Parts: sequence; C-alpha cells; structure tokens
Amino acid sequence: MTFDIQTTDPNSKARAGVITTDHGQIQTPIFMPVGTAGSVKAVHQRELKEDIKAQIILGNTYHLYLRPTLDIIEKAGGLHKFNGWDKPILTDSGGYQVYSLAGTGRKIKEEGVTFKSHIDGSTHFFTPEGVMDIQRTIGADIMMAFDECTPYPCEYGYARESMEMTHRWLKRCCDHFDKTEPKYGYSQTLFPIVQGSVYKDLRVKSAEVIASFEREGNAIGGLSVGEPAEMMYEMTDMVTDILPKDKPRYLMGVGTPANILEGIALGIDMFDCVMPTRNARNGMLFTTEGTINMKNEKWKDDFSPLDSGLNSYASNFYTKAYVRHLLKADEMLGAMICSVHNLTFYLWLVGQAREQIIAGTFKTWKDSMVVKLMQRL
Ligand code: GUN
Repeated sequence: MTFDIQTTDPNSKARAGVITTDHGQIQTPIFMPVGTAGSVKAVHQRELKEDIKAQIILGNTYHLYLRPTLDIIEKAGGLHKFNGWDKPILTDSGGYQVYSLAGTGRKIKEEGVTFKSHIDGSTHFFTPEGVMDIQRTIGADIMMAFDECTPYPCEYGYARESMEMTHRWLKRCCDHFDKTEPKYGYSQTLFPIVQGSVYKDLRVKSAEVIASFEREGNAIGGLSVGEPAEMMYEMTDMVTDILPKDKPRYLMGVGTPANILEGIALGIDMFDCVMPTRNARNGMLFTTEGTINMKNEKWKDDFSPLDSGLNSYASNFYTKAYVRHLLKADEMLGAMICSVHNLTFYLWLVGQAREQIIAGTFKTWKDSMVVKLMQRL
C-alpha cells in the first residue's frame, strides 16, 4: 500500500491524497461504507460501485468469523471473491465488537478475550495472533490491530492499563503479521490503533507509541463512544499532531456529516460509520440541505425528489411522499432507497471536501457546510 498526498490545505490540517492498494486506488479523504457481515445492508454491490461510488468497504472480523465462518470464506478464495466486491476492503479487528459485548460474560485478559457468540451463545477466544490469522484468511487489503476500545466515561486508571495492554497486543499483532503471508496473491497491510480514552497525556503517549511502530497507516479508536463532540475533536487534534503526516489516518466509527468535516479539518483521511445505513433503515435521511425524518407527517404529500442537490438515481428518482409511504408500510424498498441515498450523500460530501481542499477553499466551505448540515428540515 502507498499513500501520496496531493494537496495540503493552507488554513487547516486537511489533506487530499491517494491510497494505492492491489485492489485499486482510494481518493482521500474517504468514507468507507460498513459491510459488517460481508454486505452493506440493503445495498447491491452494483449500486455501491456505480451510484454511491464507494471506493473501499469495511468488513468485520467478529461477524465473518462467526458466520459464514472462515472455512467458507477461504474456500471462496477470500471475501472479495465471496461477495463480489473487487475494490479494496478493510476489516475491523473485533476490538470494537467485543467491547460492544460488555455485560454478556466477555472476559478481557492479557492473553486475549473470551466472548460468547451473539448467534448461538457458543464461547470463543480471540488473541492478537488469532485475529491476524483471521484477517489474513478474510483477505482484507487493510487489516486492523486487535485493541480494547474503552467505554465513556472511563476511569483514568482503567484507561491507562487498557491502553498499555493495547500497545502490548499491537506488538504481538505486528510480530505475527510480519511472520505470516497473504493467502490470495495480493498484499495486505496492518494499521495500529491509538487509544487512551479522553485523557490528554494518555492520547499523546498512545500516539507516540503507535507512530513508533512505523506501519503504513494509523487509526484512532475509542472515540465517538458517547463523549461530547468537542472532546472528540480535541483528542483527534492532539493525536494528528503526533501521527506521521505522510501516512493515512483513520478515525474509527465517525460519524455525523459535521463530525466528518471537522475530522477532515483535523487531518483525518479515512472514516467509517454505520450511521448512514442504520439511520436510513429508521427513515433518517442526510441531505444537501440538512437532516430529514422521512416518517414525519409533513412529507406525506411532498412530491419533490429526496434530494435534488445530489446527482444520483435514488435521490432524484423517488419522491419524499413515496419513500415516506414505503417506510410507514415497512416495505423493504424504503430501507433500500434510503440506504443508497444516505451513502451517496456521504460519498458526495467527502468528494466535495476533497475538491475544496484541492481548490484551497476547504476551511470556509467547511465552516458554512457544518452549519447547513446540522439543520433539521
Ligand atoms: N470502531 C470504532 N471505534 C473502534 C475502536 O476503538 N477499536 C476498533 N477496533 N474498532 C473501532
């Protein structure tokens, strides 16, 4: 994998770049649609590519390991062959999913994490080495280190010990990754993850340790877990001052359109979040004019397109009144249209940000866009 920065914004830390993988190029800043179990929920691969213009999607180690299981993915020749997505794939390591299983008998120890499957209650054990093997078998272009994502709020002592364990796990991940080979003939890379909760000294320490591993890209985790947005920006700002400038930076699990624009201004290149797809299924649409609750009575006879500000099929072809009806009637097409629309909007937004960075006008555009996008219509 390589990363080339094309333009750096003079008035913020934003940059426009290109990541090159064996499955093609990614123009940054980029949003990565989440395909937890190997599918971006309610969206065809053809729509992802041609309408949404996704350049990379996410998969989840935890979910794919439990179902369909690794032997099936390996038999298919890796996840790209299994789901038919021939562009880059990034897999999360399970660190966040295991965090989400708190209260279900999950046990975190130095050696690894014991957890129960959400599908059949069976017990499993993830170690940093095992998680590297799983992601080798899935065949992700970008693999993530095994970490512990701390909750918010989190006591200082716990945050420090957890962060230190994440660093020791990272060493084990890197040693194992460097000892093993890709299985399907294309190269894979490993991104470490900065932790440290909302404590400045821990974030600085973690960023320094993560940078010292000198991997091809770096991620920031443990944010967007309930802390105020200002705190997330402050932590991100401190960390991006330390992580190397010449490597991609990925802010995990973020966020709203405004969070993404602020993240770009702070020097983030990659984002992922379930928000555009999950909220779509509940009828919440992100548009170029602001946010819409599509189930609201006020749209029942509004025959204007979902969003005429986007040049895309789902957003231009269907009317608000029709989509409201589909959602109210629990018709699957409603969730499908809204998912395609929201993802099209997210990819449009990062594409616009990229153009503004290249034109040298990002900062003023971002400031006015954030205000506009926070509006509820
Ligand atoms: N997704 C969102 N936050 C995190 C995190 O802290 N760790 C991992 N592995 N995935 C995440």
